[in-house]
Amino acid sequence: MKKTLSSDKLRGGYYTPPVIARFLSRWAIRSGSDTVLEPSCGDGRLLFAAADRLSELGVRRDSLCDRLFGVELLADEASKAARSGATIETGDFFTVFRDRIEKPGRTFSCAIGNPPFIRYQNFDPASRDIAFALLRPRGFNPNKLTNAWIPFLVLSASALAPDGRLAMVIPAELLQVDYAGETRRFLASFFQRTTIVLFRSIVFDGIQQEVVLLLCEKTAPAGGIRTVEVADADELDAFHPRLASSETQPYLPDGHKWTRFLLSAEENDLLDRLAENQSVASANDLFEVNVGLVSGENDFFVLTRETVDIWGLRNVVRPIVSRAEQVRGLVFGDADFKAMSEAGKRVHLFDPGDSSAEGFSPPVRDSSAGPRIVCAFLNSYTFALSETLGRSYGGGVMTFEPGEVRKMRIPMIGADHLDLHRLDALVRAGKIDVVLDEVDHCLLGKGLGLSQGEIRALRGIWEKLRNRRFDRRQRQAILPSKGKRQSHFQISTLEPQSPDYPNSSPEQLLLAMEAKTSYDKRGKSKKRKAK
Ligand SMILES: C[S@@+](CC[C@H](N)C(=O)[O-])C[C@H]1O[C@@H](n2cnc3c(N)ncnc32)[C@H](O)[C@@H]1O
Repeated sequence: MKKTLSSDKLRGGYYTPPVIARFLSRWAIRSGSDTVLEPSCGDGRLLFAAADRLSELGVRRDSLCDRLFGVELLADEASKAARSGATIETGDFFTVFRDRIEKPGRTFSCAIGNPPFIRYQNFDPASRDIAFALLRPRGFNPNKLTNAWIPFLVLSASALAPDGRLAMVIPAELLQVDYAGETRRFLASFFQRTTIVLFRSIVFDGIQQEVVLLLCEKTAPAGGIRTVEVADADELDAFHPRLASSETQPYLPDGHKWTRFLLSAEENDLLDRLAENQSVASANDLFEVNVGLVSGENDFFVLTRETVDIWGLRNVVRPIVSRAEQVRGLVFGDADFKAMSEAGKRVHLFDPGDSSAEGFSPPVRDSSAGPRIVCAFLNSYTFALSETLGRSYGGGVMTFEPGEVRKMRIPMIGADHLDLHRLDALVRAGKIDVVLDEVDHCLLGKGLGLSQGEIRALRGIWEKLRNRRFDRRQRQAILPSKGKRQSHFQISTLEPQSPDYPNSSPEQLLLAMEAKTSYDKRGKSKKRKAK
């Protein structure tokens, strides 16, 4: 466990803003006879909001203890929550669920909450063992990626009565990470309708994690899933009319990411049709995708020119791209490398061993195809699809796991006609729209025979998802200049090795490191653990 993690972070102690607490209670609680479970109630702010809602529905304050049931790990917080009039159990929710809810068969009309987001390694092992044991019979195979919010969500859902409702604050990664695939499948089979409320700006101060509101109904007039986007929490008060007019789409088959629900049914149809199109190559057929290098200690291994010179390390370093921002165009050549080196960037990998013996194989399957693949990648279909495959963070950064890159699709018919150096110059000049116009015309129009309308729709999908990702940058974040750049894909080809660096080989420029980097709230780069 890292010493730097605050105790609030370890227990997932970020509380819900009042406007959201009010919204969740008002949506979930429909009648004065409803009963409410809050599995991780903190200081009880959701329970206070639920108490207000029940009072509005005519419930007397002195009978709230029969209607509201909260659980909280910390005694101090639990005693604050008890002032709401709810019955509070102090302790671990999973133990309480097993012994006091599941065993006696207790159910609730509503579950409201904002479960803690605690990673496996910080999740108390005793509590985690109980949580995982309760998940398994529900079709889950929990593992080291399973965050605490998953069992809180799933078990609270399991405690609902047949027409129950669940309203929770959940990390937006529910929509997009592979490890939440089982949870998406569970929700799709357990709830007739799921509504996801997304925020254009991040609503919780103090956390970088993007959140959504998950509103689930066991019985609903129309089945499926719908998404509604609001500017910020304050807009929730005027939210109900918009909900009624939003389109419900059928749940997606297993494993699909729910980012797709940010698109309209027609947009999804278009992506589905292209997924069936055999003329589009899959990335996996074109190149190998591997994690290139994880040093474990970049400060030590990835050096600036100054450090290399001070310590006389010229013969034991090789060039490396350590951040995607170092790749400005489609071609990364000697001049780019020198410019980065002279600008004091960390582009020298300390590598005193004989690593040529490790046999690094070129990633492109047909060695002459590299430049064509790089050019062909820059089309609206591949861009749009990429936005649905990767995962985005509050800072606007998008990252891909190797398995996600393998699923990308690249139209290659006509790629011979694309001019790498011309496109390179356009990308460097920030003219990504011109690049897309040219490549779309050549590959999507002429190569695949798509209509102008279809090409425009694909561009629209990319822009919609890209803009959404950018809009959600934290208000106070000071992002590095890369945030303003137009080109978001660091797919490049490499020029021959630099004579200055005898150990260098182009294949050893490892782009994968950027995929392991995200931004903290001040916009500073920080390492993420490889999953
Ligand atoms: C994200 S906070 C939310 C608190 C409150 N629900 C709200 O919406 O403001 C999560 C709470 O879960 C509590 N917690 C963490 N692990 C728990 C566990 N195993 N059982 C019960 N509560 C837990 C934390 O102490 C913290 O108060």
